[in-house]
Amino acid sequence: MNTSYSSLLNDLQKSLDNCTSSNELYKIKSTFLGKKGILASQFNEMRNISHEEKKKLGQELNKIKTQIELAIREKEKLLNAQKLESKEIDVELPGMNALVGTRHPISITINEITKILSQFGFSKVIGDEIETEFYNFEALNIPETHPARDMHDTFYINVKNLLRTHTSSVQIHSMEKYNAPIKIMTPGRVYRCDSDPTHSPMFHQIEGLYVDEGVSFTHLKGILEEFINLYFGKKMEIRFRPSYFPFTEPSAEIDIKFNNKWLEVLGCGMVHNNVLMNVNIDTKKYSGFAFGLGIERFAMLKYGIRDLRLFYENDLMFLKQFSGIK
Ligand code: PHE
Repeated sequence: MNTSYSSLLNDLQKSLDNCTSSNELYKIKSTFLGKKGILASQFNEMRNISHEEKKKLGQELNKIKTQIELAIREKEKLLNAQKLESKEIDVELPGMNALVGTRHPISITINEITKILSQFGFSKVIGDEIETEFYNFEALNIPETHPARDMHDTFYINVKNLLRTHTSSVQIHSMEKYNAPIKIMTPGRVYRCDSDPTHSPMFHQIEGLYVDEGVSFTHLKGILEEFINLYFGKKMEIRFRPSYFPFTEPSAEIDIKFNNKWLEVLGCGMVHNNVLMNVNIDTKKYSGFAFGLGIERFAMLKYGIRDLRLFYENDLMFLKQFSGIK
């Protein structure tokens, strides 16, 4: 081998021995094998020599080239192996936890309530959150002058549409669709222009409606009393207090005694004749009752939650406490 070629290989070996990164290796590669590299210039020199010498030199140079390529490839393998080694798995590191989601307390409460009501024969219906004045007010016997119609309580989307202020609108849709007899429950979001520690502009209600022959206030009392005891898991002290809703007559509210204080938990009453007539139900044959309750309020009372806003803040510390409840 030509001595200048053997020193070339020596130089290469030295550079490779000192090389510690793939970046450096890349530079070495282009110094020796690149278009303007050492080997390329040697090939260039062949232009000025005889045909015989060219052949000999050419073979020699190609051999050198193969050796250089091999040496560089070996070094590349070595560097990659070292890289892997430095990323060796540390078996003492703490493992990564796969976080599993849990149900939101509002969903849990909706499940609990609908489960009890379905035992009483109520079928679940889901209504729309965007309503017209007709379904949210008029058909429910709420005249245009009623305070609930005030712009301050209702979020209007445009002149025609609004965000429902209660789930009672689903009463009308359901009776229009199924007439009587009917026994439905309908959970969902409702909206009111109201916001403070105990009021949220969006909250959840569940509505119940039962219309059939001979349904009386006694049925209403019996079912709701039993429902409350089942929900709280014990016999609760409750009272029915006379109240007013335009769509029920007579109307009442139920209060439950907690820590010696009466807390209002739901509105109810016998479906007003005007409402039944609005959906073409024969009032001589049928009568019914309806009730509406706030899901947040029921969840707060059962789980001892003091601030309504906790439901909407997505604070994991709060939400995690409900893991394990279905
Ligand atoms: N819709 C009433 C409210 O939002 C509750 C209610 C429902 C009252 C059904 C009576 C009957 O306050």
